[in-house]
Amino acid sequence: MALPWDFRPLTGSRVGLELLRPDDFDALYAIQSDPEVCRYLLYEPRSPERVHEVLERDAAATRLATGEDFVQPAIRDATGRLIGTMYFKLASVEDRTAEIGWLLDPRFQGQGYAREAAAVLLDLAFGELGLHRVYAELDPRNTASVALCLRLGMREEAFLRENMWFKGDWADTGIYAILEHEWRRRPQTP
Ligand SMILES: CC(C)(COP(=O)(O)OP(=O)(O)OC[C@H]1O[C@@H](n2cnc3c(N)ncnc32)[C@H](O)[C@@H]1OP(=O)(O)O)[C@@H](O)C(=O)NCCC(=O)NCCS
Repeated sequence: MALPWDFRPLTGSRVGLELLRPDDFDALYAIQSDPEVCRYLLYEPRSPERVHEVLERDAAATRLATGEDFVQPAIRDATGRLIGTMYFKLASVEDRTAEIGWLLDPRFQGQGYAREAAAVLLDLAFGELGLHRVYAELDPRNTASVALCLRLGMREEAFLRENMWFKGDWADTGIYAILEHEWRRRPQTP
């Protein structure tokens, strides 16, 4: 396994993954303060102060070396505009497992950008990083996120019934995952 791994910009055919920068604040705040975007996220819509804090924190998260290390790069379109962010956490070095997550500006949803950005990270995970398994945790009511998992070839591994007190009610958790050999042998889609 190629650890430690220091972040470097990654590219897909229409998107680039780059570290967040201070000038991403406006675009990031627009996304993270949007109640629709946050509906199934663990946090409530964020204040400007909180977005400043997380931007600073995430821009400085550049190395995957030990369990719980994460990167949270910007997804940029061909013009360099921030259209969303990806989350990639090294969950366990011993088990060669990572967690993946995604967030798109609503204006850029429905165009395959999240799938492309996720595929870039899965290629990294199962190629250069030599990982064995990547999983996503989500609220099963989040149909867009479930659909994205399935489009990536991830399998539903668990449906945890009312395991979490979430925004004033009990909520379920879905776990979707894909293994290295499943990713390599996935059917190729256009
Ligand atoms: C989850 C989320 C990232 C999914 O975004 P998305 O844009 O639906 O995902 P994709 O990038 O896979 O795009 C798929 C859609 O683009 C369409 N599409 C258009 N052009 C495409 C192309 N060139 N390639 C692939 N798909 C394309 C697909 O048909 C699909 O449309 P559909 O939803 O009408 O079936 C987004 O809904 C989001 O940010 N939600 C709020 C935050 C959130 O809940 N995050 C997840 C927490 S677990």
